[in-house]
This record gives sequence, C-alpha cells and structure tokens, in this order.
Amino acid sequence: MANKQPSLNSTIVLRLAIPLIFFISIETVLSYFVTLHHVDVAYDGWLLDSARSLTQEVKAQNGGVFVELPPAALEIFKWDESDKTYFKIISAENVLIAGDKSVPEPHDLEVDWANPVYFDDEMYGEPVRVVSMMIAPEYSDAKVFVHVAETLNKRRNMMMDILLADLLPQLALVLLVGIYLVLGVKRGLQPLHILADEIAKRSSRDLRPIPEQHVFLEVRALTDTINDLLARLGLSINTQQRFIANAAHQLRTPLAGLKLQVERAQREQNLAEMKPALAHIQSSADRMSHLTTQLLVLARSESIDGNYELRPVDLNELVKQTCIDWVPKALQRQIDLSYEGLNESLMVNGDEVLLKELLANLLDNAICYGHDKGHILVKIMRAPFPCLIVEDDGCGISESEGEKVFERFYRIPGSNGDGCGLGLAIVKEIADLHSARLELLKLSAVGGTQIKLIFKD
Ligand SMILES: Nc1ncnc2c1ncn2[C@@H]1O[C@H](COP(=O)(O)OP(=O)(O)OP(=O)(O)O)[C@@H](O)[C@H]1O
Ligand SMILES: [Mg+2]
Repeated sequence: MANKQPSLNSTIVLRLAIPLIFFISIETVLSYFVTLHHVDVAYDGWLLDSARSLTQEVKAQNGGVFVELPPAALEIFKWDESDKTYFKIISAENVLIAGDKSVPEPHDLEVDWANPVYFDDEMYGEPVRVVSMMIAPEYSDAKVFVHVAETLNKRRNMMMDILLADLLPQLALVLLVGIYLVLGVKRGLQPLHILADEIAKRSSRDLRPIPEQHVFLEVRALTDTINDLLARLGLSINTQQRFIANAAHQLRTPLAGLKLQVERAQREQNLAEMKPALAHIQSSADRMSHLTTQLLVLARSESIDGNYELRPVDLNELVKQTCIDWVPKALQRQIDLSYEGLNESLMVNGDEVLLKELLANLLDNAICYGHDKGHILVKIMRAPFPCLIVEDDGCGISESEGEKVFERFYRIPGSNGDGCGLGLAIVKEIADLHSARLELLKLSAVGGTQIKLIFKD
C-alpha cells in the first residue's frame, strides 16, 4: 500500500517553491510591462528621428508643398535586417505628397498635433508602430502630416532577449534552491534516522531516556514527552514487579502452611488428633481465598481505563443493602452497625459492583479494627457533593500511618486479624476510578477512624 503520510521533505520544498514561483511569475509580468515601456520609449525615439528627418525634406514653393528625398534620406526607409519602415506625407486636404498611402493614420479625430502621436496599428497584415506629426513648412500657410510606420520585429526580439535574460537566471535559482532544500532537509533529518535506528535496536527492557545529543531543539518537546513516558513506564513496571513479588510472597505463606498441615494431618491416626491440623488448613484456605478475592478485585479495578463508562447508581440503596449484608458479621463481635441514609435515592455515576467492594472493605476494616461491642456508623450525605462516610470507634489510624495504609500490602504492625493489606489500596483504586476524593480522619472525641468518599457530581 502506498505511503499516504506527508513527507517533511516535499512539504518544505513545496511550501517554499510555491511562493517562490508565485513571486517570480509576478515579477516576470511586472518586468514584462516595464521592459515593454522602456523598449517602446527607445524605439519610439528612433521612429521619431526617422519622421523628423523626413520633415526636413518637406519644402514650400510657390504656395505649394513638395518633398525632395535624397538617397541618404530614403536609405533609412529601406528594409533593415528585421523590420520594414513605411512613410506617408499628406497635405491637410488628404492629398498624398509622398510615400505609401497604406500607412495608417490616427483614428482619433481629436488628436492634439502639438506633439508627435504614437499608436499601434496594422499594415499589410502585420502589426506596426506608427508615429504621426504635423508640420508647417517655412514660407507657407499649408499644413503637412507625416506618418511613419515600422513593423515590430526588433522590439519583439529585444523584449524576448531582455525577458529571457531576466527569467532564465531566476528559473535556475528556483532549481538550485529546490535541489539545495531537498538535500538540506534530507541531511538535516539524518540525526532523526540515527535516533530511530538506535531506538529500534533497543531491547524491550531498555527504558533509558533518549539521549539528547542527537536531537534538534524543535524535536526536544517530542523526545522529552517520550522520555517522560519511558520514566512513567519504568515506574509502573517497577510497581507491578513489586506487586507480583508481594502477591507471590503472600500466596506462598498460606500455601506452605497448608502443605505442612496436610502432612501433619496425614501422620495422625484418628480424627480427634487431626482436628487442630484441619483447623489450620481451614484458616490457611480462608486466608488464600480472601487474598485471591482481594487480588482479583484489585486487578479488575486496575484494568479499567479512563474510557470506562460509569452508569447512574443509587448510592442510598446500594449502601443500605451492603450494610444489611454486613450486620451478621458485625453481630459476631456485638458491634452496633447503624446506617443514616436518605429518604430518597441519591444517584451517582459509578460501577455498582466496585462500589459494593469499596464499602465492603471499609466495613470489614471497621469491624476488624473496632472494639467488641463498639459502634459503626455509615452515613450518606447529598450536599454539597454526594458523600459516603464510614466511621468507627476502634483503635484509629495514627497520622504517621495515614498515607501508608493506602499502599498495597501495607499493614500497620501489630494489627488485628490476618488481612493481606490490600483493602484500602482497593478502596483508593475504586475511588480514583470514580474520580472521587478520599479523606481519612481521626476522630478526636470518640477515637476511631472516619473515612469519607466524596463524589464530584
Ligand atoms: N478502621 C480502621 N481502624 C484502624 N485501623 C485501620 C482501619 N482500617 C485500616 N486500618 C489499618 O490499615 C491497615 C491497612 O488496611 P487494609 O484494609 O488496606 O489492609 P488489611 O485490612 O490489613 O487487609 P485486607 O483488607 O486486604 O484484608 C490495616 O492493617 C490496619 O492496621
Ligand atoms: Mg482491610
């Protein structure tokens, strides 16, 4: 398939060549008219000289007018190399005194005869330039008109010579500039090809920034962006590698425990002696199942990109249902789980399943890190922005841990339960996906923790 991408080389050459050719054309047209004017002025002068030399020969005698043309005067009206010259001398009464009566006269009847009159016409089918003048010979009242016509070959030849002398160097200049530009742009782009080769040779693991020595200032913005992207890619690959290492470690521990306990159970002879090992197997399996669920939720919320379409969800209903689902678990620790909702629905744009996961993780934490017989309050507020609050009266999160608890696999040392440290990381991921703001507050009066999720709309 033909490459339809515009080439920088041809674009630059075209952008420069088109105006150059345009200006040269305008210049040529202008210089044509200026040259025409000057050539006309020069040749008109010579035509006038011929006409004047004729007027010298017009004499008056006995009240009449006659012309005596010596051979020297007639010489100029012979054929020269390229042009023919004709003349005509007529009286005021339009009587031919001498010359060729076909020589044209001015068509304009209102001619001012004070000065010679020039005009273009045709004679014997050929274009001619004519000068006409009126003279009054000495010792006579008569008026005589002299018309001299000349074909235009010399003028045309001179015009062509001047125009070619002007145009040819200009065309040569356009050609040279074009060749120079094509070669210049090609040479100028060479560093980019070197750069492309260098990047093409790299391994997929080589995320070093693009070196700046090969790069033009104009391309720097592009390479800076690519370098920035490479840096972010490197960071994200590192994070992912750390995550995989952590996940592998987290999975290995319960698996190793599971294997050990199964071996221990196999060594026992009766069921009663097997029971402690079976209980351990159950807790390891629970732990693995919880970890796998958490990893899957995290993977799901992480894989959703910015173009994912969120749908209107009734936050009031969703939170109410989830709280009802969690009451039995709260009751196991005699915790009072209460819900302060709204009487009508509160619509937000979101993903129902992920929002449920978010609240489940907050409730799980509140129950796990709260006191027995404690209180958990889940609240929904409409103004100024839709907002979900989960607060407990448990041990709370110290300020120094405030940021860290949202990191993946981070658990505050000495925490209750055998969580895997992914709950709040999942909460943060889902909040980001909903462009919602997360706030973590320490409740000074009651102790405990308050986590607020504020939606933008
Ligand atoms: N409501 C809370 N009160 C006190 N401490 C909390 C609360 N919620 C979270 N924490 C602390 O923050 C840490 C991180 O919580 P997170 O939910 O991310 O992980 P986890 O509960 O340990 O494991 P997971 O939720 O994945 O099973 C917890 O280990 C706990 O110490
Ligand atoms: Mg948790």
